[in-house]
Amino acid sequence: MTNWIKLGKQILDGYKIEEIELNGRMFKFSPKQVKFISNFKDRFCLYSGGFGCGKSLALYVKLILHIQCFPGNRILLGRKTLADIERAILPDLFDLMPRNWYEHRVKDAVINIKNGSQIIMFGLDALQDGSLGDIKKAEQKVKSLNLGAYFIDQLEEIEYSVFEALNSRLRNNIPLVRQGNMTTNPANFWAYDYFKKNPRSRTNLIEGSMLDNKEYLPEDYLEDQLNHDERYVKRYVYGQWTPDVLTDKAVFAQEYINKFEDDKKSPIANEEGCEIWEHYRPELEYQIGVDPSEGIIDPSSISVVSSEGKKVAKYNGKIPIHAQIEKVKFLYAKYNQPLIIPEVNASGIALLEGIKDLKCYEREEIGYYSKLHSTKEKRLGWKTSHQSKQALIANFQDLLRKKFPVVYDESTIEELKTFVWSDSAKEKGAGAQRGFHDDDVMSTLLAFWGLNPTIPIVPKQINHFEERLKEIKKSRKPIKSYI
Ligand SMILES: Nc1ncnc2c1ncn2[C@@H]1O[C@H](COP(=O)(O)OP(=O)(O)O)[C@@H](O)[C@H]1O
Ligand SMILES: [Mg+2]
Repeated sequence: MTNWIKLGKQILDGYKIEEIELNGRMFKFSPKQVKFISNFKDRFCLYSGGFGCGKSLALYVKLILHIQCFPGNRILLGRKTLADIERAILPDLFDLMPRNWYEHRVKDAVINIKNGSQIIMFGLDALQDGSLGDIKKAEQKVKSLNLGAYFIDQLEEIEYSVFEALNSRLRNNIPLVRQGNMTTNPANFWAYDYFKKNPRSRTNLIEGSMLDNKEYLPEDYLEDQLNHDERYVKRYVYGQWTPDVLTDKAVFAQEYINKFEDDKKSPIANEEGCEIWEHYRPELEYQIGVDPSEGIIDPSSISVVSSEGKKVAKYNGKIPIHAQIEKVKFLYAKYNQPLIIPEVNASGIALLEGIKDLKCYEREEIGYYSKLHSTKEKRLGWKTSHQSKQALIANFQDLLRKKFPVVYDESTIEELKTFVWSDSAKEKGAGAQRGFHDDDVMSTLLAFWGLNPTIPIVPKQINHFEERLKEIKKSRKPIKSYI
């Protein structure tokens, strides 16, 4: 019988947990598991690794130590959705806990432990997806919690803002460090920077491989996994968390992004919060792309490009619509009244109100009343749909092949790397990988709309995206690959 209170004291003294008996079964841990489970010092512990390397098991064992060794502890157990927790975590967790330790209150999504500890289960998606109102509600709920620790399986599904929100709730009054314990498969998302590239203070990253856990995996499973292509094996078997294995679904080819990286430089000026790489030159024409936002969750982004294909200025920040309008007006005046191409979905409508007297892109909307009768109407602004987004991307890819665009701005380049094809309806076919932004990409793509390396911009030129798409299709053959 384990003396949990005594074990808790030993853990705080630095004792390493190499094995433990749980629910009548003896568990011996791999060296990586030992490190993860025994770390009660660092504030954030992340176990990253290939499939089946034993990270989830280590997470559950550590969770059990937190609740058993420290009576009265309050733990949040999170995953993308509550259904994921019930389906993928609870069966394994309950396997490790004798039935008489706990009472599972399914309706309240809590597990009450006999010693006064409590596990609160939370579908974190409520904090990151859905309407602003729903998010606010979920935030209120989290705010009412005082947590001793939280445990998140598959952190790559969780946005940075949610991680931050949880950290502000770590304040339960128990005699040990308040901890976030997490697992992930190698993925291109915020935690890569936070734990690996620029590790923040009091973070601990453990990286494991499927081979660490050979003993406990069926032999044919390992064999089968090793038969995948090299990238897969590196990432999902060996668990290598390096940028080169991550961006397999990137929209823009690495070779072009490398070229941008070579040209990368700091702006030469900052005017009214806008970064400037090149001032106005009268012999050139310009276009402005705008990706507006509500200004609370996502930043808004403005890009100015010249007829030489250079991104010469930008703004990016979380500001309200009226302030975004001022930024657009400032750049509009600075670059001698270029064509503005603003996205007008959602918050864009309010932005459009403020700039509709300036030179604005017009799209054509076709309405069908019957087979014989249709209308063509001109409307201001760019409307993003699945189809128009594809055209926008195809346009930029076409220009990339012609080696036309030049981007100096570091954060745009970073966003281009993590701009991936997506199945999510919300992203209309492509968008930022979870945890990243794509507003600088969107405003850049908009600013390049209709630009042509050979024909300088004709002011007021209007290119409906279907026509532009036809042009692109004519000029190049293998278009199927991404349309
Ligand atoms: N130390 C261990 N002792 C016994 N079984 C283990 C151990 N570590 C992992 N396992 C088992 O190996 C399998 C894969 O582990 P899991 O934690 O689910 O991997 P991951 O979450 O990294 O994909 C599971 O069946 C798990 O119970
Ligand atoms: Mg797992």
